[in-house]
Amino acid sequence: MLELRNIDTYYGNIQALHQIDLTVEAGEIITLIGANGAGKSTTLMSISGISPPRSGEIIFKGKPIHELPANKIVTLGISQVPEGRHIFPELTVAENLDMGAFLRNDKRGIADDLEYLYDLFPILRKRRNQPGGNLSGGEQQMLAISRALMAHPQLLLLDEPSMGLAPLVTKQIFEIIEKINREQNTTIFLVEQNANLALQIAHRGYVLENGRITMHDQADKLLANKDVQKAYLGI
Ligand SMILES: Nc1ncnc2c1ncn2[C@@H]1O[C@H](COP(=O)(O)OP(=O)(O)OP(=O)(O)O)[C@@H](O)[C@H]1O
Ligand SMILES: [Mg+2]
Repeated sequence: MLELRNIDTYYGNIQALHQIDLTVEAGEIITLIGANGAGKSTTLMSISGISPPRSGEIIFKGKPIHELPANKIVTLGISQVPEGRHIFPELTVAENLDMGAFLRNDKRGIADDLEYLYDLFPILRKRRNQPGGNLSGGEQQMLAISRALMAHPQLLLLDEPSMGLAPLVTKQIFEIIEKINREQNTTIFLVEQNANLALQIAHRGYVLENGRITMHDQADKLLANKDVQKAYLGI
């Protein structure tokens, strides 16, 4: 579904990504793990067009997307949940969700997706007329994920959904990520510092160090790998 070939991404003259090669198959959950500053968010933003690469190619469903603007990339079927959530605090929950669908015009599909998400996250239905800013951190993360899903993406990019959340809320959100993958066949690209949890739900994983991919394998193999355990799993 998605292929990154030789991606170099810069901020001014600082190179954040070095020759990133990775693939995402339709229907899978892949995770990219790495320390602070490794380049995880930059990888997602290179894909979504927010920080486009300086060189290399990004191919989505057979077509190059690395020169397209971010809004065009969304319409092709890629949605991103940015790090730190960034919901619209003044808008109600329902208005935030509407914003996620603003590039669509299939009224029926939008209504169906809204129902599906309200069933998935009943708290959002309950709070639909309240400002997003009044929600708890976990609820805002649910809203941010739901808003991205309102675009009905084929590929969902998630940037550290567990950040700042209690373990129980994190567990709930990860279960729902798996459920979306299973029920909607949404392909998931999950970036996480919580490598343990991420590798438990992912099919495959990549390890990013200082802007370079240093390892990739089946998720269960990475979980059992001594170097990964030592560096990322605290074992
Ligand atoms: N807007 C920016 N301007 C300059 N440098 C940046 C910018 N954003 C990120 N960087 C640098 O690029 C590198 C990769 O940052 P990135 O945010 O992708 O890392 P990350 O793996 O997502 O880290 P974290 O786990 O802390 O979110 C870091 O060295 C960072 O300082
Ligand atoms: Mg980040």
